Amino acid sequence: MSAEGKPDTEQRKHLLRQLLEQRGAGGAPAAEAGPGAAARVEKLEDAREVDAFHARMRHLAGLGLSDPCFHSLEGPAAGTVVIGGRTLADFSGYNYLGLAADPRVKRAAQDAIEQYGTSASASRLASGQRPVHAELEQEIASFLGVEDALVLTAGYATNVTILGHVLGPRDLVIHDELAHNSILLGCQLSHARRLPFAHNDLDALDDLLRRYRGDVEKALIVVEGAYSMDGDFPDLPRLLAIRRKHGAAVFVDEAHSLGVMGPTGRGIGEHFAVDRREVDLWMGTLSKTLSSVGGYVAGPGKLLRYLKYTAPGFIFSAGMPPASAAAALAALRLLRAEPWRVAKLAANCALFLEEARAAGLDTALSGSTAVVPVVVHDSVRCLRLAARLFEGGINVFPMTYPAVAEDQARLRFFISSEHTMEQLRGAVSTVARLLGELRATAA
Ligand SMILES: Cc1ncc(COP(=O)(O)O)c(C=O)c1O
Repeated sequence: MSAEGKPDTEQRKHLLRQLLEQRGAGGAPAAEAGPGAAARVEKLEDAREVDAFHARMRHLAGLGLSDPCFHSLEGPAAGTVVIGGRTLADFSGYNYLGLAADPRVKRAAQDAIEQYGTSASASRLASGQRPVHAELEQEIASFLGVEDALVLTAGYATNVTILGHVLGPRDLVIHDELAHNSILLGCQLSHARRLPFAHNDLDALDDLLRRYRGDVEKALIVVEGAYSMDGDFPDLPRLLAIRRKHGAAVFVDEAHSLGVMGPTGRGIGEHFAVDRREVDLWMGTLSKTLSSVGGYVAGPGKLLRYLKYTAPGFIFSAGMPPASAAAALAALRLLRAEPWRVAKLAANCALFLEEARAAGLDTALSGSTAVVPVVVHDSVRCLRLAARLFEGGINVFPMTYPAVAEDQARLRFFISSEHTMEQLRGAVSTVARLLGELRATAA
């Protein structure tokens, strides 16, 4: 305890950890009760995980930390954002190429609403689609240089349903340990044998395939084009050589690499100039660079036709609203027509990273992508830093335990082509100053 009778920093951290550990990081209760030992719960709201969550929120409020979630944005987030009447530099959204507020994208969505109404109203397979759905799929396929594409209503649902569908109990899926939650859920849904490998450790991937490939029908390697926790990416050419050696299929999630990597924003495939056909499915989201909502998978026509007629999350779900498809299509056409946006984003990312490193900030593994973490190594300090930055006009979201290990608590800066050099430099110097102050106070 401190002199004032309040818990000191170490005790507070311990308390926080205890509260958080009442649930596992994956959302499941950390410990299963034995047979007959479970206390009966009749209402979902009385479940112990619900109570643990509320205890945690009360605890955070008790530390004087404001809730960084669910800010009410009073306009688009494009470099800056207005919250509570104040304009802040925004580093928490994925509007990588600044297209989400572009008048041409907005116009396309408005025109689609006028023409087709607000909803697709049913599954495209069963009740038909609007021309804009097919146009978007053709445009995605031609942009990536593959035969066909399929769009679904969310990036998250795309991973869950496609991975859940293309794999089965006789198969093996090997994924990077930092794979997005939607990838993990899709793999679990498939009932395939699931083996994670250490982040970007392709020797480990090679080894797992050597040991387990022989036992299964299909083996699928799942990686991301750019990882949103560290802003790094896999060595795709080497991964494809491993794929060839073992006869494995490959799935690449380009949520954070489309529009970001490669000279014209065609993602990690363009960055490494790989043969597009070597990856079975290129997956991406429409919610980030493409300024809409939804997800896609793109690849060979034979596979895509099969998915269009059989993928459950597509055939049993209403189609994407035509306005969302039109917005994504307009954004994709702008990405094609205005490659300077990709170059501007790359320059912004390089500047931010260089300044952050020069200021002595821990930017982990970040390199050549639009995600730059600043590792704070302490959840409470990270939350305090985010709150101070918010007060100082910078909106950036803290990632704390249990989303990351306690010593990996971090702020994640998402860079946009819309950021000015002053905003980027200002953000770095403010973070460095406030972090220094917080450390000094703790010391
Ligand atoms: C790697 C990855 N895949 C999939 C998704 C889900 O995409 P969406 O938010 O468009 O549903 C995300 C979301 O951030 C992601 O980071």
